[in-house]
Amino acid sequence: MKENSIKVGIIGAGGIANVHARYYRELPGVELVAVADVDEKRAVDFARRWGVPESNVFADYSKMLRSVQLDAVSVCTPHAVHARPTIEALRRGIHVNVEKPMASKAADALEMWRAAKESGKILMVGFQTRWSPEIVAAKRIVASGALGRVYYCEATLGGRRRGIPGSPTFLKRDLAGGGVVLDLGCYAIDNAMYVLGFPRPVSVSASIEAAIGPQKSAVVECGWGWSPEDFEVEDFVAAFVRLEGGCSMVLKESWAMHSNSLGSAFFLGTKGGLRLSPLEVYRDEWGYMTTTTLALPQVDIHREKMKAFIEAVSKGGPSPIDPREIVIEQFILEAIYESASRGKEVEVRLPRELLA
Ligand SMILES: NC(=O)c1ccc[n+]([C@@H]2O[C@H](COP(=O)([O-])OP(=O)(O)OC[C@H]3O[C@@H](n4cnc5c(N)ncnc54)[C@H](O)[C@@H]3O)[C@@H](O)[C@H]2O)c1
Repeated sequence: MKENSIKVGIIGAGGIANVHARYYRELPGVELVAVADVDEKRAVDFARRWGVPESNVFADYSKMLRSVQLDAVSVCTPHAVHARPTIEALRRGIHVNVEKPMASKAADALEMWRAAKESGKILMVGFQTRWSPEIVAAKRIVASGALGRVYYCEATLGGRRRGIPGSPTFLKRDLAGGGVVLDLGCYAIDNAMYVLGFPRPVSVSASIEAAIGPQKSAVVECGWGWSPEDFEVEDFVAAFVRLEGGCSMVLKESWAMHSNSLGSAFFLGTKGGLRLSPLEVYRDEWGYMTTTTLALPQVDIHREKMKAFIEAVSKGGPSPIDPREIVIEQFILEAIYESASRGKEVEVRLPRELLA
Protein backbone atom coordinates (compact mmCIF):
# COMPACT_ATOMS: atom_id res chain seq x y z
CA MET A 1 0.00 0.00 0.00
CA LYS A 2 1.16 3.53 -0.80
CA GLU A 3 1.85 5.80 2.14
CA ASN A 4 -0.16 8.95 1.50
CA SER A 5 -2.99 7.59 -0.61
CA ILE A 6 -6.66 7.62 0.38
CA LYS A 7 -7.47 4.00 1.24
CA VAL A 8 -10.93 2.84 0.24
CA GLY A 9 -12.92 -0.34 0.65
CA ILE A 10 -16.06 -1.55 -1.09
CA ILE A 11 -18.99 -3.32 0.56
CA GLY A 12 -21.08 -5.28 -1.95
CA ALA A 13 -19.13 -6.45 -5.00
CA GLY A 14 -21.93 -6.54 -7.59
CA GLY A 15 -22.69 -4.52 -10.72
CA ILE A 16 -22.28 -0.91 -9.57
CA ALA A 17 -19.26 -1.74 -7.37
CA ASN A 18 -17.28 -2.18 -10.61
CA VAL A 19 -18.06 1.40 -11.58
CA HIS A 20 -16.81 2.60 -8.17
CA ALA A 21 -13.68 0.45 -8.51
CA ARG A 22 -12.95 1.78 -11.99
CA TYR A 23 -12.95 5.40 -10.84
CA TYR A 24 -11.09 4.71 -7.61
CA ARG A 25 -8.40 3.16 -9.82
CA GLU A 26 -8.41 6.08 -12.26
CA LEU A 27 -8.43 8.93 -9.76
CA PRO A 28 -5.01 10.03 -8.50
CA GLY A 29 -4.08 9.47 -4.86
CA VAL A 30 -6.69 6.76 -4.24
CA GLU A 31 -6.14 3.07 -3.54
CA LEU A 32 -8.81 0.37 -3.45
CA VAL A 33 -7.48 -1.87 -0.69
CA ALA A 34 -10.38 -4.05 0.56
CA VAL A 35 -13.66 -5.62 -0.47
CA ALA A 36 -16.48 -7.42 1.34
CA ASP A 37 -19.42 -9.38 -0.04
CA VAL A 38 -21.60 -12.04 1.59
CA ASP A 39 -21.03 -13.98 -1.60
CA GLU A 40 -17.36 -14.73 -0.97
CA LYS A 41 -16.66 -16.02 -4.47
CA ARG A 42 -17.94 -12.76 -5.87
CA ALA A 43 -15.66 -10.84 -3.52
CA VAL A 44 -12.66 -12.95 -4.54
CA ASP A 45 -13.35 -12.48 -8.28
CA PHE A 46 -13.82 -8.77 -7.72
CA ALA A 47 -10.56 -8.50 -5.79
CA ARG A 48 -8.68 -10.25 -8.62
CA ARG A 49 -10.27 -7.99 -11.22
CA TRP A 50 -9.38 -4.78 -9.37
CA GLY A 51 -6.09 -5.71 -7.75
CA VAL A 52 -7.29 -5.87 -4.15
CA PRO A 53 -4.89 -7.94 -1.99
CA GLU A 54 -6.23 -11.43 -1.25
CA SER A 55 -5.69 -10.86 2.49
CA ASN A 56 -8.24 -8.02 2.37
CA VAL A 57 -11.19 -9.96 0.96
CA PHE A 58 -14.05 -10.49 3.42
CA ALA A 59 -17.45 -12.17 3.57
CA ASP A 60 -18.32 -10.04 6.60
CA TYR A 61 -18.15 -6.27 6.16
CA SER A 62 -17.85 -5.69 9.93
CA LYS A 63 -14.65 -7.70 9.92
CA MET A 64 -13.33 -5.60 7.04
CA LEU A 65 -14.17 -2.35 8.86
CA ARG A 66 -12.51 -3.66 12.05
CA SER A 67 -9.36 -5.03 10.53
CA VAL A 68 -8.35 -2.80 7.60
CA GLN A 69 -7.22 0.79 8.04
CA LEU A 70 -9.67 2.62 5.74
CA ASP A 71 -10.31 6.31 5.04
CA ALA A 72 -13.51 5.71 3.07
CA VAL A 73 -15.91 3.01 1.89
CA SER A 74 -18.39 2.64 -0.92
CA VAL A 75 -21.57 0.87 0.16
CA CYS A 76 -22.88 -0.93 -2.94
CA THR A 77 -25.21 -3.47 -1.31
CA PRO A 78 -28.96 -3.88 -1.97
CA HIS A 79 -31.10 -0.91 -0.79
CA ALA A 80 -32.22 -2.55 2.47
CA VAL A 81 -28.57 -3.29 3.32
CA HIS A 82 -27.33 0.32 2.94
CA ALA A 83 -28.02 1.51 6.48
CA ARG A 84 -26.14 -0.94 8.74
CA PRO A 85 -22.74 -0.87 6.99
CA THR A 86 -23.00 2.91 6.50
CA ILE A 87 -23.71 3.56 10.17
CA GLU A 88 -21.01 1.18 11.32
CA ALA A 89 -18.42 2.74 9.00
CA LEU A 90 -19.29 6.29 10.07
CA ARG A 91 -19.08 5.31 13.74
CA ARG A 92 -15.63 3.92 13.07
CA GLY A 93 -14.61 7.30 11.60
CA ILE A 94 -14.74 6.19 7.96
CA HIS A 95 -16.24 8.43 5.22
CA VAL A 96 -19.07 6.81 3.25
CA ASN A 97 -20.12 6.92 -0.40
CA VAL A 98 -23.41 4.99 -0.32
CA GLU A 99 -25.40 4.08 -3.40
CA LYS A 100 -28.90 5.33 -4.13
CA PRO A 101 -31.57 5.09 -2.80
CA MET A 102 -30.18 6.20 0.56
CA ALA A 103 -32.11 3.40 2.31
CA SER A 104 -35.27 1.36 1.98
CA LYS A 105 -36.89 3.09 4.98
CA ALA A 106 -36.97 6.72 6.08
CA ALA A 107 -36.09 5.76 9.68
CA ASP A 108 -32.88 4.11 8.43
CA ALA A 109 -31.98 7.16 6.35
CA LEU A 110 -32.50 9.36 9.42
CA GLU A 111 -30.22 7.14 11.50
CA MET A 112 -27.55 7.27 8.77
CA TRP A 113 -27.73 11.07 8.71
CA ARG A 114 -27.47 11.23 12.50
CA ALA A 115 -24.44 8.94 12.44
CA ALA A 116 -22.79 11.25 9.89
CA LYS A 117 -23.49 14.33 12.01
CA GLU A 118 -22.25 12.68 15.20
CA SER A 119 -19.06 11.37 13.58
CA GLY A 120 -18.32 14.50 11.54
CA LYS A 121 -17.54 12.19 8.61
CA ILE A 122 -18.72 12.56 5.03
CA LEU A 123 -21.90 10.78 3.97
CA MET A 124 -22.60 11.10 0.26
CA VAL A 125 -25.56 9.35 -1.36
CA GLY A 126 -24.56 8.46 -4.91
CA PHE A 127 -26.82 10.57 -7.11
CA GLN A 128 -24.48 11.03 -10.08
CA THR A 129 -27.41 12.88 -11.69
CA ARG A 130 -26.38 15.92 -9.60
CA TRP A 131 -23.58 16.34 -12.17
CA SER A 132 -25.86 15.92 -15.20
CA PRO A 133 -25.52 19.00 -17.45
CA GLU A 134 -29.33 19.15 -17.89
CA ILE A 135 -29.95 19.12 -14.13
CA VAL A 136 -27.20 21.66 -13.44
CA ALA A 137 -28.58 23.98 -16.14
CA ALA A 138 -32.21 23.52 -15.05
CA LYS A 139 -31.32 24.40 -11.46
CA ARG A 140 -29.48 27.50 -12.62
CA ILE A 141 -32.37 28.60 -14.86
CA VAL A 142 -35.03 28.10 -12.15
CA ALA A 143 -32.87 29.90 -9.55
CA SER A 144 -32.40 32.85 -11.94
CA GLY A 145 -36.14 33.48 -11.84
CA ALA A 146 -36.46 33.02 -15.62
CA LEU A 147 -39.50 30.76 -15.13
CA GLY A 148 -41.17 33.05 -12.56
CA ARG A 149 -42.94 31.12 -9.81
CA VAL A 150 -42.82 27.39 -10.55
CA TYR A 151 -46.27 26.02 -9.71
CA TYR A 152 -46.14 22.51 -11.22
CA CYS A 153 -43.63 19.89 -12.24
CA GLU A 154 -43.58 16.33 -13.44
CA ALA A 155 -40.82 14.11 -12.10
CA THR A 156 -39.92 11.10 -14.21
CA LEU A 157 -37.02 9.47 -16.01
CA GLY A 158 -39.50 8.57 -18.74
CA GLY A 159 -40.25 5.01 -17.68
CA ARG A 160 -39.15 1.79 -19.37
CA ARG A 161 -41.30 -0.29 -21.68
CA ARG A 162 -39.45 -3.37 -20.39
CA GLY A 163 -36.58 -2.82 -17.98
CA ILE A 164 -37.04 -4.84 -14.82
CA PRO A 165 -33.63 -5.46 -13.20
CA GLY A 166 -32.59 -9.11 -13.14
CA SER A 167 -30.83 -9.21 -9.78
CA PRO A 168 -32.75 -10.32 -6.64
CA THR A 169 -31.18 -7.16 -5.13
CA PHE A 170 -34.01 -5.21 -6.77
CA LEU A 171 -36.84 -7.74 -6.67
CA LYS A 172 -36.85 -9.54 -3.31
CA ARG A 173 -38.60 -7.57 -0.59
CA ASP A 174 -36.06 -8.33 2.16
CA LEU A 175 -33.18 -7.00 0.00
CA ALA A 176 -34.85 -4.18 -1.95
CA GLY A 177 -37.58 -3.02 0.41
CA GLY A 178 -39.48 -1.79 -2.67
CA GLY A 179 -39.34 -1.66 -6.45
CA VAL A 180 -39.39 1.12 -9.01
CA VAL A 181 -40.37 3.74 -6.41
CA LEU A 182 -37.03 3.28 -4.66
CA ASP A 183 -34.90 2.37 -7.68
CA LEU A 184 -35.92 5.05 -10.23
CA GLY A 185 -38.37 7.17 -8.23
CA CYS A 186 -35.52 8.30 -5.98
CA TYR A 187 -33.72 9.83 -9.00
CA ALA A 188 -36.84 11.49 -10.41
CA ILE A 189 -37.62 13.05 -7.02
CA ASP A 190 -34.03 14.13 -6.38
CA ASN A 191 -33.84 15.77 -9.82
CA ALA A 192 -37.05 17.72 -9.24
CA MET A 193 -36.37 18.67 -5.60
CA TYR A 194 -32.83 19.81 -6.44
CA VAL A 195 -34.02 21.95 -9.37
CA LEU A 196 -36.82 23.43 -7.25
CA GLY A 197 -34.45 24.24 -4.36
CA PHE A 198 -35.95 21.78 -1.84
CA PRO A 199 -39.41 23.09 -0.95
CA ARG A 200 -40.78 21.21 2.04
CA PRO A 201 -42.98 18.27 1.03
CA VAL A 202 -46.43 18.47 2.60
CA SER A 203 -48.57 15.54 1.44
CA VAL A 204 -48.68 12.65 -1.02
CA SER A 205 -51.43 10.73 -2.80
CA ALA A 206 -50.08 7.73 -4.67
CA SER A 207 -50.82 4.42 -6.26
CA ILE A 208 -48.42 1.64 -7.11
CA GLU A 209 -48.81 -1.51 -9.18
CA ALA A 210 -47.06 -4.81 -9.75
CA ALA A 211 -48.58 -4.89 -13.23
CA ILE A 212 -46.02 -6.62 -15.46
CA GLY A 213 -43.26 -8.04 -13.22
CA PRO A 214 -45.10 -11.17 -12.01
CA GLN A 215 -46.15 -12.22 -15.55
CA LYS A 216 -44.04 -14.98 -17.14
CA SER A 217 -45.25 -14.01 -20.64
CA ALA A 218 -43.87 -10.48 -20.12
CA VAL A 219 -40.28 -11.77 -20.22
CA VAL A 220 -39.83 -11.06 -23.93
CA GLU A 221 -36.72 -10.80 -26.13
CA CYS A 222 -35.49 -7.39 -25.02
CA GLY A 223 -32.18 -7.78 -23.21
CA TRP A 224 -33.75 -7.46 -19.74
CA GLY A 225 -34.35 -10.83 -18.13
CA TRP A 226 -35.82 -11.32 -14.67
CA SER A 227 -37.56 -14.12 -12.77
CA PRO A 228 -41.28 -13.39 -12.38
CA GLU A 229 -41.25 -15.85 -9.40
CA ASP A 230 -38.82 -13.54 -7.60
CA PHE A 231 -40.88 -10.43 -8.26
CA GLU A 232 -42.07 -9.20 -4.83
CA VAL A 233 -42.19 -5.43 -5.40
CA GLU A 234 -43.93 -2.81 -7.60
CA ASP A 235 -43.15 -1.85 -11.21
CA PHE A 236 -45.26 1.30 -11.57
CA VAL A 237 -45.96 4.41 -9.52
CA ALA A 238 -48.06 7.52 -9.97
CA ALA A 239 -48.01 10.08 -7.16
CA PHE A 240 -49.22 13.60 -6.52
CA VAL A 241 -46.96 15.48 -4.09
CA ARG A 242 -47.93 18.85 -2.61
CA LEU A 243 -44.96 21.08 -1.79
CA GLU A 244 -44.83 24.09 0.52
CA GLY A 245 -45.18 27.38 -1.36
CA GLY A 246 -47.85 26.10 -3.72
CA CYS A 247 -45.89 23.97 -6.18
CA SER A 248 -47.16 20.47 -6.87
CA MET A 249 -45.27 17.56 -8.32
CA VAL A 250 -46.49 14.51 -10.18
CA LEU A 251 -44.17 11.53 -10.06
CA LYS A 252 -44.59 8.89 -12.78
CA GLU A 253 -42.22 5.97 -13.11
CA SER A 254 -42.24 2.51 -14.56
CA TRP A 255 -39.91 -0.46 -14.91
CA ALA A 256 -42.25 -2.09 -17.41
CA MET A 257 -45.42 -1.02 -19.23
CA HIS A 258 -47.30 -1.29 -22.48
CA SER A 259 -46.17 2.10 -23.72
CA ASN A 260 -42.98 3.58 -25.13
CA SER A 261 -42.52 6.42 -22.70
CA LEU A 262 -44.02 8.40 -19.84
CA GLY A 263 -42.51 11.57 -21.33
CA SER A 264 -39.86 13.90 -19.96
CA ALA A 265 -39.68 15.67 -16.63
CA PHE A 266 -40.81 19.31 -16.92
CA PHE A 267 -41.42 22.44 -14.87
CA LEU A 268 -44.15 25.06 -15.40
CA GLY A 269 -43.69 28.59 -14.08
CA THR A 270 -45.63 31.84 -14.38
CA LYS A 271 -43.01 33.29 -16.78
CA GLY A 272 -41.59 30.24 -18.47
CA GLY A 273 -41.43 26.48 -18.67
CA LEU A 274 -38.59 23.97 -18.92
CA ARG A 275 -38.41 20.44 -20.24
CA LEU A 276 -35.51 18.41 -18.92
CA SER A 277 -34.58 15.89 -21.60
CA PRO A 278 -33.74 17.16 -24.03
CA LEU A 279 -33.47 20.49 -22.24
CA GLU A 280 -35.69 23.22 -23.68
CA VAL A 281 -36.85 26.50 -22.15
CA TYR A 282 -40.20 27.96 -23.22
CA ARG A 283 -40.85 31.71 -22.74
CA ASP A 284 -42.58 34.70 -24.23
CA GLU A 285 -39.97 37.15 -25.51
CA TRP A 286 -40.19 40.16 -27.81
CA GLY A 287 -43.88 39.46 -28.35
CA TYR A 288 -43.20 35.88 -29.50
CA MET A 289 -43.26 32.44 -27.94
CA THR A 290 -39.62 31.33 -27.85
CA THR A 291 -38.04 27.91 -27.39
CA THR A 292 -34.43 27.96 -26.22
CA THR A 293 -32.00 25.05 -26.39
CA LEU A 294 -28.60 25.10 -24.72
CA ALA A 295 -25.25 23.81 -25.96
CA LEU A 296 -24.49 21.57 -22.98
CA PRO A 297 -21.13 19.97 -22.23
CA GLN A 298 -20.59 16.19 -22.35
CA VAL A 299 -19.91 14.97 -18.82
CA ASP A 300 -19.01 11.56 -17.39
CA ILE A 301 -21.34 11.95 -14.43
CA HIS A 302 -20.14 8.81 -12.60
CA ARG A 303 -16.56 10.07 -12.78
CA GLU A 304 -17.59 13.52 -11.51
CA LYS A 305 -19.45 11.96 -8.58
CA MET A 306 -16.50 9.80 -7.54
CA LYS A 307 -14.06 12.68 -8.01
CA ALA A 308 -16.20 15.00 -5.88
CA PHE A 309 -16.33 12.36 -3.12
CA ILE A 310 -12.57 11.84 -3.12
CA GLU A 311 -11.91 15.59 -3.16
CA ALA A 312 -14.24 15.97 -0.17
CA VAL A 313 -12.42 13.16 1.64
CA SER A 314 -9.04 14.76 1.02
CA LYS A 315 -10.32 18.13 2.29
CA GLY A 316 -12.20 16.56 5.21
CA GLY A 317 -15.68 17.57 3.94
CA PRO A 318 -18.35 18.74 3.42
CA SER A 319 -20.27 16.09 1.51
CA PRO A 320 -20.75 17.09 -2.16
CA ILE A 321 -24.43 16.17 -1.70
CA ASP A 322 -26.03 17.27 1.57
CA PRO A 323 -27.42 14.04 3.07
CA ARG A 324 -30.17 16.00 4.86
CA GLU A 325 -31.76 16.70 1.46
CA ILE A 326 -31.82 13.01 0.66
CA VAL A 327 -33.34 12.08 4.02
CA ILE A 328 -36.20 14.50 3.27
CA GLU A 329 -36.70 12.80 -0.11
CA GLN A 330 -36.73 9.44 1.63
CA PHE A 331 -39.75 10.65 3.65
CA ILE A 332 -41.53 11.40 0.33
CA LEU A 333 -40.77 7.85 -0.87
CA GLU A 334 -42.10 6.46 2.41
CA ALA A 335 -45.28 8.56 2.13
CA ILE A 336 -45.80 7.16 -1.40
CA TYR A 337 -45.88 3.60 -0.02
CA GLU A 338 -48.08 4.65 2.90
CA SER A 339 -50.58 6.47 0.66
CA ALA A 340 -50.68 3.59 -1.82
CA SER A 341 -51.36 1.05 0.93
CA ARG A 342 -54.02 3.20 2.68
CA GLY A 343 -55.63 4.36 -0.58
CA LYS A 344 -55.70 8.02 0.44
CA GLU A 345 -53.64 11.21 0.68
CA VAL A 346 -51.18 11.19 3.59
CA GLU A 347 -49.08 13.83 5.28
CA VAL A 348 -45.28 13.79 4.85
CA ARG A 349 -44.25 13.72 8.50
CA LEU A 350 -40.77 15.22 8.61
CA PRO A 351 -39.03 15.04 11.98
CA ARG A 352 -38.33 18.51 13.41
CA GLU A 353 -34.56 17.91 13.31
CA LEU A 354 -34.72 17.81 9.49
CA LEU A 355 -36.28 21.25 9.20
CA ALA A 356 -33.31 23.59 8.80
N1 LIG B 1 -25.76 4.94 -9.17
C1 LIG B 1 -26.10 4.06 -10.11
O1 LIG B 1 -26.07 4.35 -11.31
C2 LIG B 1 -26.49 2.68 -9.72
C3 LIG B 1 -26.56 1.67 -10.70
C4 LIG B 1 -26.88 0.38 -10.30
C5 LIG B 1 -27.16 0.10 -8.97
N2 LIG B 1 -27.12 1.12 -8.05
C6 LIG B 1 -27.44 0.84 -6.63
O2 LIG B 1 -26.40 0.05 -6.08
C7 LIG B 1 -26.90 -0.94 -5.19
C8 LIG B 1 -26.42 -2.32 -5.65
O3 LIG B 1 -26.90 -2.55 -6.96
P1 LIG B 1 -26.17 -3.59 -7.95
O4 LIG B 1 -26.80 -3.44 -9.27
O5 LIG B 1 -24.70 -3.47 -7.84
O6 LIG B 1 -26.67 -4.97 -7.29
P2 LIG B 1 -25.96 -6.42 -7.37
O7 LIG B 1 -27.00 -7.40 -7.03
O8 LIG B 1 -25.24 -6.55 -8.66
O9 LIG B 1 -24.86 -6.35 -6.21
C9 LIG B 1 -25.17 -6.28 -4.83
C10 LIG B 1 -24.10 -7.04 -4.09
O10 LIG B 1 -24.27 -6.83 -2.67
C11 LIG B 1 -23.95 -8.07 -2.03
N3 LIG B 1 -24.49 -8.09 -0.67
C12 LIG B 1 -25.76 -8.31 -0.27
N4 LIG B 1 -25.84 -8.25 1.08
C13 LIG B 1 -24.60 -7.97 1.54
C14 LIG B 1 -24.03 -7.76 2.83
N5 LIG B 1 -24.78 -7.86 3.94
N6 LIG B 1 -22.70 -7.52 2.93
C15 LIG B 1 -21.93 -7.46 1.82
N7 LIG B 1 -22.41 -7.64 0.57
C16 LIG B 1 -23.73 -7.87 0.43
C17 LIG B 1 -24.52 -9.13 -2.96
O11 LIG B 1 -23.98 -10.41 -2.71
C18 LIG B 1 -24.15 -8.56 -4.32
O12 LIG B 1 -22.89 -9.02 -4.76
C19 LIG B 1 -28.42 -0.79 -5.21
O13 LIG B 1 -28.85 -0.07 -4.08
C20 LIG B 1 -28.70 0.01 -6.47
O14 LIG B 1 -29.83 0.87 -6.40
C21 LIG B 1 -26.78 2.37 -8.40
